[in-house]
Amino acid sequence: MTLQRILVTGGAGFIGSGFVRYLLETYPDVHVVNFDKLTYAGNFDNVKDVDPARHTFIQGDVADFDAVRQAMEGCDAVVNFAAETHVDRSIMGAAEFIDTDVKGVHNIVEAARVLETERVLLVSTDEVYGSIAEGQFRETDPVGPRNPYSASKAGGELMGMAFHHTFGVPVIITRGSNTYGPYQYPEKVMPLFITNALEDEPLPLYGDGKNVRDWLYVEDHCSGVDCALRKGAPGEVYNIAGGNERENIELTHKILELTGKPESLIKPVTDRPGHDRRYALNADKLKALGWRPAMDWEEGVARTVEWYTDNRWWWEKIKSGEFKEYYKRQYESR
Ligand code: NAD
Ligand code: DAU
Repeated sequence: MTLQRILVTGGAGFIGSGFVRYLLETYPDVHVVNFDKLTYAGNFDNVKDVDPARHTFIQGDVADFDAVRQAMEGCDAVVNFAAETHVDRSIMGAAEFIDTDVKGVHNIVEAARVLETERVLLVSTDEVYGSIAEGQFRETDPVGPRNPYSASKAGGELMGMAFHHTFGVPVIITRGSNTYGPYQYPEKVMPLFITNALEDEPLPLYGDGKNVRDWLYVEDHCSGVDCALRKGAPGEVYNIAGGNERENIELTHKILELTGKPESLIKPVTDRPGHDRRYALNADKLKALGWRPAMDWEEGVARTVEWYTDNRWWWEKIKSGEFKEYYKRQYESR
């Protein structure tokens, strides 16, 4: 299967922009069509350094079927990263999550059905399984989302698989674990805590700080998606996990150590409603196709802290814009 022209939806976001760079660096003949709405989380700065001769950027909404179909025309594959992605925002209001994460995915698989696109990869999340006290989720486990964001992602997944079974659309799904690295919007815990520490602001730690996430470096998430795209089978789901389970409090200590800031910056705050206690994934199915995560946890966090330290130009303008209003609504009364 030769994939030469690839539509990447959500390619101006955190992981999507990493995937655009990954494709262009790994495959000299690939041309990327990057379709992104540029919501508060989308940022053209994330792809401003890629070769414009091999990268076509279209500002558009996956909830707009005609725009999606037009962008997909002539593409061999589509990889969907476009989503509303922040759990706390989904708790404040879920309507946009349904528009993008469910309706948007429907538009993508419907356009792929009409255009007979060779591969459709839907990027999803470990959150669709819900929380697990012990052991690890496998792809055969049932989904049980517990917050509006993960419910919207599960809705998109189910629609995608329904299009595979009903119409033969070649849909593959990946479920990635918590991803970190450069260019992540500073509402997520890792960049929020790093940038707050750099500004000597408190780090608002939810609940008892003992919730567990399995951390995956952004380039490893991208190589996992690419592996599933090229070697995976239509109709199948593949977990992508970093294998780095950490309690939030441990992550917080590590960030303070690396930024050289005091423990007194930790501010315990009211827990997130419906806060999933632990995520853990078994990624053997993708590993059987040859994928391996390459980044060591300690090095990955150190590199991430270094990137935010060296690239204040990237996040300072974000934190002074829409973010301020969001931060106030989210944290003021906690
Ligand atoms: P992000 O919030 O950084 O970026 C999302 C991108 O989608 C932005 O560029 C935004 O402008 C774009 N977008 C949003 N709505 C759109 C719409 N209606 N039409 C077109 N574009 C739209 O997200 P991210 O963290 O890079 O996540 C990318 C994907 O990976 C998402 O599908 C998410 O569910 C999934 N995922 C994320 C993680 C994680 O830890 N960040 C882990 C597993 C899976
Ligand atoms: O697991 C994959 C998911 O990871 C992705 O699908 C989501 O798009 C992504 O946002 C992420 O979801 P989480 O809810 O796990 O990520 P977040 O960074 O919001 O929170 C990580 C942990 O840190 C979680 O246990 C809540 C906690 N937290 C978060 C914030 C923002 C805090 O303690 N304080 C905070 O201020």
